[in-house]
Amino acid sequence: MTAVRRIRDLGPADLDWVAEQEEAIFGPAAWSRAMIEEDFRFPRKRHIGVEDDGALVGYGMTSFDGEALHVLNLAVRADARNRGNGAALLTAMVEQARELGASEMWLEVRVDNEAAHTLYESFGFVPVRIRPRYYQPEDVDGLVMRLQLGDQA
Ligand SMILES: CC(C)(COP(=O)(O)OP(=O)(O)OC[C@H]1O[C@@H](n2cnc3c(N)ncnc32)[C@H](O)[C@@H]1OP(=O)(O)O)[C@@H](O)C(=O)NCCC(=O)NCCS
Repeated sequence: MTAVRRIRDLGPADLDWVAEQEEAIFGPAAWSRAMIEEDFRFPRKRHIGVEDDGALVGYGMTSFDGEALHVLNLAVRADARNRGNGAALLTAMVEQARELGASEMWLEVRVDNEAAHTLYESFGFVPVRIRPRYYQPEDVDGLVMRLQLGDQA
């Protein structure tokens, strides 16, 4: 049977799961449970999750500033990577941006995160500038990337 993938909005009931994944995936750089809880209450931020065969395996957060959609987070559980879950989340974010009428999307990614670079580039994101030592406590530079949406369908 083929895997069933579904994107859904996340809410307060998913908070524990997201906080657990943050810790497991990002370690010392993870957002705390309190920060995530606050973000869940922020109306301009949207949290989505991807379910793979009925289980939540990845999540992402976006923020809309009236013109651009910012990808604030994107992560897939280690045992569910390389099977399209990250791309499914990003596809939903691009759809959201188009629905909102955003002209572009922005994100920051660690300069050494090859998997994420490849994913973002495959969606048309281009490197714009480096933010020195953006990621702490690891002290790693951030790469700012942008996707111009224009008015194509
Ligand atoms: C980045 C991340 C979200 C990708 O999720 P994923 O579910 O593995 O991605 P997908 O399976 O949808 O892959 C989509 C594309 O990304 C690229 N990609 C994904 N993993 C890759 C890897 N390890 N090396 C190179 N390219 C990779 C490929 O282009 C892939 O397309 P393909 O399968 O047609 O070749 C995942 O690796 C992750 O959660 N990493 C840890 C958290 C993180 O770094 N998040 C990004 C913060 S900005």
